[in-house]
Amino acid sequence: MIVLGIESTCDETGAAIVEDGKRILSNVVASSADIHERYGGVFPELACRRHIDAIIPVVDEALKKADVSPAEIDLIAVAKGPGLVGALLIGMNAAKGLAIAWEKPLIGVNHVEAHLYAALMEAEEPTPFPSLGIVLSGGHTLMLKILEIGRYEAIGTTVDDAVGEAFDKVAALLSLPYPGGPQIERLAKEGNPKGYSFHPGKVKRSPLDFSFSGLKTSVLYAVKGQNGLLPVSLTDSQKADVAASFQETALRDIAEKAALAMQTFDCKAVFLGGGVCNNRRLRSLFAEKFTHLPIFWPPFDLTVDNAAMIAGLGYQKFLASGMSGDSLDLEVQTRIPIA
Ligand code: KG4
Ligand code: ZN
Repeated sequence: MIVLGIESTCDETGAAIVEDGKRILSNVVASSADIHERYGGVFPELACRRHIDAIIPVVDEALKKADVSPAEIDLIAVAKGPGLVGALLIGMNAAKGLAIAWEKPLIGVNHVEAHLYAALMEAEEPTPFPSLGIVLSGGHTLMLKILEIGRYEAIGTTVDDAVGEAFDKVAALLSLPYPGGPQIERLAKEGNPKGYSFHPGKVKRSPLDFSFSGLKTSVLYAVKGQNGLLPVSLTDSQKADVAASFQETALRDIAEKAALAMQTFDCKAVFLGGGVCNNRRLRSLFAEKFTHLPIFWPPFDLTVDNAAMIAGLGYQKFLASGMSGDSLDLEVQTRIPIA
């Protein structure tokens, strides 16, 4: 079954062709991160304008790269949310338009669930369930028990910033461009992770929840002085120490809470997804902690927003729906709980 996936939840316009939920024939992503750089974060209206310009060329390119004609497509899968409403509407309406024009079924999928599916695409059958699922992105920080694809139980989440958002904000404090995660990782390599004594956020009576706002404030004080009033001018090596200490504190916190979740819940493997999974220090911390269990990471190009994970999960959802899919009344949803 050949599925066209469409992704437009935030600042990436993606289209991909995936066969039987796993075999990626093409995966095209046009990012508008360059225009958001000067604002230090995604500027929704500008992201929407880029989506409008990019969506059809990106679909065309995905078809060409896969050497697939519209007639050969069996299903159109689209990210229905969560995300920016205007951005979602562009992907959704493109998907509906193509479904009508090409007379194909349509299915909407949850973008956050698709981030996890990117790692599930890598696992051999039968998939080891129940498993621990962890989504670490710019908008989400979630731990879930995966009972099967489509059935999840919430284990923990963030009470304030998402971890990727914290990386982006700390990068902005260090005058590094958006998106900040890769910049922090690069700078952290030159710094001492024990240079600053930052502490991970604890949530009262919820040991498996996350909080990154206190850590972010500690970075603010280190960079701008207590209360942000004293102009502190950091040397380059101090900045690298801040980046390394922040990264180590945030990522170690995630690995430790994941280990606690593994002890508490009976899980056979760990699946991770989302942009922060690009971080090599995160991968090495998990490898140190989980020596006795399989860890599944998405390939690097499937960690950040992409349409291959949407097409892959769309295939699974279509089968689960008894091949009926969604009606053309399908609506976008800016927030969707997955458990
Ligand atoms: O999954 P994603 O593309 O978008 C969302 O659905 O949010 O994740 C983007 C996030 C950004 O916050 C970015 O800074 C972060 O992933 N990120 C990283 C790295 N690469 C991307 N964070 C830490 N280290 C990285 N190497
Ligand atoms: Zn995402």
